[in-house]
Amino acid sequence: MGSHEKHNCVWTILPLWLCAVSFLFLAANNGGPATVGASHDVYNMMNVQSSSRATPHSINHIHRTGYHFQPSRNWINDPNGPMYYKGWYHLFYQYNPNGSLWGNIVWAHSVSKDLINWKPLKPAIYPSKPFDKFGTWSGSATIRPGNRPAIMYTGIVDDKQSQVQNLAYPADYNDPYLQEWVKPDHINPIAVPDSTINQTAFRDPTTAWLGRDGRWRMLVGGKRGGQRRGIAFLYWSRDFLKWVKAKHPLHSSDGTGMWECPDFFPVRVQGTAGLDTSATGGENGAAAVKHVLKVSLDETRYEYYTVGEYDEGKDRYTPDNSSVDGWNGLRFDYGNFYASKTFFDPSKNRRILWGWSNESDSYPEDLVNKGWAGIQAIPRTIWLDPLGKQVVQWPIKEVEAIRHNKVELKNHKLKMGEKIEIKGITPAQADVEVTFTFHSLDKMESFDPNWNIYDAQKLCGIRGSTVQGGVGPFGLATLASKNMEEFTPVSFRVFRTQDDTHKVLMCSDATTSTLNNTNMYTPSFAGFVNVDLTKNKKISLRSLIDHSVVESFGAGGKTCITSRVYPTLAINDGAHLFAFNNGTELVTIETLTAWSMVNPKIN
Ligand code: FRU
Repeated sequence: MGSHEKHNCVWTILPLWLCAVSFLFLAANNGGPATVGASHDVYNMMNVQSSSRATPHSINHIHRTGYHFQPSRNWINDPNGPMYYKGWYHLFYQYNPNGSLWGNIVWAHSVSKDLINWKPLKPAIYPSKPFDKFGTWSGSATIRPGNRPAIMYTGIVDDKQSQVQNLAYPADYNDPYLQEWVKPDHINPIAVPDSTINQTAFRDPTTAWLGRDGRWRMLVGGKRGGQRRGIAFLYWSRDFLKWVKAKHPLHSSDGTGMWECPDFFPVRVQGTAGLDTSATGGENGAAAVKHVLKVSLDETRYEYYTVGEYDEGKDRYTPDNSSVDGWNGLRFDYGNFYASKTFFDPSKNRRILWGWSNESDSYPEDLVNKGWAGIQAIPRTIWLDPLGKQVVQWPIKEVEAIRHNKVELKNHKLKMGEKIEIKGITPAQADVEVTFTFHSLDKMESFDPNWNIYDAQKLCGIRGSTVQGGVGPFGLATLASKNMEEFTPVSFRVFRTQDDTHKVLMCSDATTSTLNNTNMYTPSFAGFVNVDLTKNKKISLRSLIDHSVVESFGAGGKTCITSRVYPTLAINDGAHLFAFNNGTELVTIETLTAWSMVNPKIN
């Protein structure tokens, strides 16, 4: 898709606000390659070691979130070792205690009763041994039989960032806060790169699972030699102490580059309840299961997952035919969401997904000035869609406890070019649920066969929310300034495909989110939504809006997109929320419910 195709505003028929924002949109998109470049700048920051210079004098609060997890200052990245233990949820995360750039990484630690209010504890794991002297990188927790947690994490052993895997135990199982962790010298490291493994691409152990044969398994992410085959190395152990590498990996895929933060877990074929990571399905009345393998791609900084079969006897995982393995695969989230990790919550019988949402706002200097960087997305319950081809995610129920000031709208019609403001809540910090309906699909635009069916983001770039369509675009304009100089639209648009079915595009488009986007990575994030709208001409959207983040859930959580945005006008009381329709087909807001969100106690 060439950049010349990017703009399609029908100036004469579109209302003024649309043309104005289209103009902004054009301006933002003309810098196409620059925004891509900015992403590299942002992501390359991962390699920047912080120095004392990185300690700011003050914290910039304008874009800090109100109800997302973040520490009071400094850099954070991956969620690590989430678990439930003795009535408390534990979240560890990659943290730089000295500044707001990546570096000096320790496992910071917070605990919570409800996954929303958090109490900070001192770092649980930090460099202190020869096997982790240069860094304590990502890893996972496993609850062993008898309710005995253990952590496996990556230790950095030299200044070349050579990697090994280590094991840590709680010093006191009676402490529900699990504050002290022991890293025994006689067992660590538990896995070192053998001669076939690239020692700087060998990290992020998964939660271990126990097979019917009494053997433990865990995965370590990597890539083959100097090549670009991403690999999930498989390790076995009888006693959890001594680990050996299996002859073959659990799975690998060519051309995908380094696999960071693999996550492998069973899901029920039916129902939304979660399963323990060691659950095996199908026998003795146990629920039938499938498995999900997720990897985080270092080269692109996005994740993909497949749904497939795990053959425990052969210890191999094979994605189903319906699951694309590789860069075009399904994503938990099509936006700013990385290094994610799930855990089983036995107290509520659910599997919960955590993901890191990195900043997108520019150069290292800006993060240093801001004094903080990175948030964790709101934890999501995750389960297998009844059709078995993808997962579904929904914000954990507990987040509903911080809703207040409910406003409602019912049966409101939106003609082409119309929008309605949702008043009575705090639009900078809100939760919105809406269901849109329409009468027919007749007015759908055609899906150009030259478009890449996998490249939703590009498509959203050329058919954004302000470009008139047939069925859609309709959706929410979040974090909008009064006159729409800035806004982050989250929208749907329906296309007729060549085989006379349809394709639903969901966009969370940050290109118009700020007047000040020179250095920012604010793309038109997008994904397709696998729904059949023929019978039921209805689609739902939920957005969690929190100052610099908009997390959206399309069609009940089938397609999720998180955008990080940095408005200059749409901040605090200057923020507005609208619902809009820019397609020729009349769209009805069947119901819209919105709430302000109060500030929980976070760290
Ligand atoms: C992913 C990652 C992991 C690594 C950690 C270091 O964001 O690069 O692979 O363990 O961050 O902080």
